[in-house]
Amino acid sequence: MAIENVLKLARVIPVLTIEDVEDAVPLCSALAEGGLPVLEITLRTPAAIPSVEMAVKALPDATIGVGTLLDETDFAKARDAGAKFAVSPGLNMDLVAASVVEEIDYLPGIQTSSEAMSAYRSGLRALKFFPAKAAGGTYGLAQLAPLYPGLVFCPTGGISLDEAPAYLDQPNVACVGGSFASPNDLVTARDWTAITELARHAAAL
Ligand code: 3PG
Repeated sequence: MAIENVLKLARVIPVLTIEDVEDAVPLCSALAEGGLPVLEITLRTPAAIPSVEMAVKALPDATIGVGTLLDETDFAKARDAGAKFAVSPGLNMDLVAASVVEEIDYLPGIQTSSEAMSAYRSGLRALKFFPAKAAGGTYGLAQLAPLYPGLVFCPTGGISLDEAPAYLDQPNVACVGGSFASPNDLVTARDWTAITELARHAAAL
């Protein structure tokens, strides 16, 4: 599935930084049950890859990807763990080339028009807009829309549940990403019911 199609599967993609591998399945299940079946597990903790492996096995209908991918070797690790897509916080052409070789759907991040242009010229049509707030938020996205009519974005970074609708109203936004559907306090308390409830609100946006 092309990354553009992954972004069409859900209006919100939870970005999960999992500290304890034991949380992976209940957390991902709680979000999927609430209507958010596309999940990004960031490669920021030692628990990340085992969490992807466990979540992929437990939730065959979910679409689980990895985030914060910084190194070419991470594509193979992600794919071997069963990840369906990969996300980076920035744009690097070596990584774009490696994603093609590794045949994994890839969503690199951009923050400026120059980066959008480089990505566009390399054939990419879907990008993460990160950190969305610092990059000008909905105003920044509206500025890019007439310049790159073929590009769609997943803005991420500093977006709250209340702010998400304004982003989703932008014609060049496919979906939004963020940690707002899985706040740290609820994960620490293992309050999966509250996370499912939050996911329901997010999925209804
Ligand atoms: C990411 O990697 O996409 C961000 O860390 C998520 O940003 P948020 O925590 O501000 O939603």
